Amino acid sequence: MTGAPSRTLGHTIHRLGEVASTQAEAARFAAAGASEGTVVTATHQRAGRGRRGREWLDTQGESLLMSIVLRPRIPADLAPQLSLVAAVAVVEALDTAGMTAGIRWPNDVMAGERKICGLLPEAVTTREGALEHVILGIGLNVNQRDFPASIRMLATSVRIETGRERAVEETRDAVLAALEGWCRRFVETGLDTVRPAWLARAQGIGRRARAADGREGVAVGLAADGALLLRTDGGEAVRVLAGEVAMEAEHAAGH
Ligand code: BTN
Repeated sequence: MTGAPSRTLGHTIHRLGEVASTQAEAARFAAAGASEGTVVTATHQRAGRGRRGREWLDTQGESLLMSIVLRPRIPADLAPQLSLVAAVAVVEALDTAGMTAGIRWPNDVMAGERKICGLLPEAVTTREGALEHVILGIGLNVNQRDFPASIRMLATSVRIETGRERAVEETRDAVLAALEGWCRRFVETGLDTVRPAWLARAQGIGRRARAADGREGVAVGLAADGALLLRTDGGEAVRVLAGEVAMEAEHAAGH
């Protein structure tokens, strides 16, 4: 993301076996000075982390479990927008696997109503508040045929969606290639170029949504800073910047 013309993301890939979390491994590399684009992958995580303290489950060897060290030259307060950027890149990478995925705000990658990929950007700042680096975690279900009962109704994989196995490494490389392009555009132009691509694949615009703080309305778009825009029943425009948003299922829209 420093404007280098050639491939930066994945110049070094640490391929690990079983780890607690690739986020922790990548954080260690970053703290030791690992450069932009250093990648850590694992075949299994004992303690995979999701957003909001949730766990991220995987099946040995069947998931892409990847953490990327990013050192973008952007203000620290823009770092959360990287999750929108990454969602666009993953959707584009999944196109190359022959499936059309969508994005549920802010950054869940979905196949219909089931989640196929989760993104976890964790920013580290200097004492002065400048962005030091971001560890971008990507958990993408590739070859699972089934999931634990607790997430069976919520999760899907590339294999389930396309009926075909796909090499995890091929999926990794497709994600890295797409991410490199979108990160470069983001650093150069901010969300301006990313936003239309995000909106083109957004799932849930036009559906009723309820923010964690109880505000409710119809999702009508994405603000210039990445906030989800809701229109309340009273016609008021509401911005949701953080937290969970519960969206009604597609088939329930309009009911
Ligand atoms: C989410 O809650 O949707 C985010 C899930 C992020 C999971 C990935 S898997 C690779 C990396 N290591 C982790 O422990 N978490 C992220």
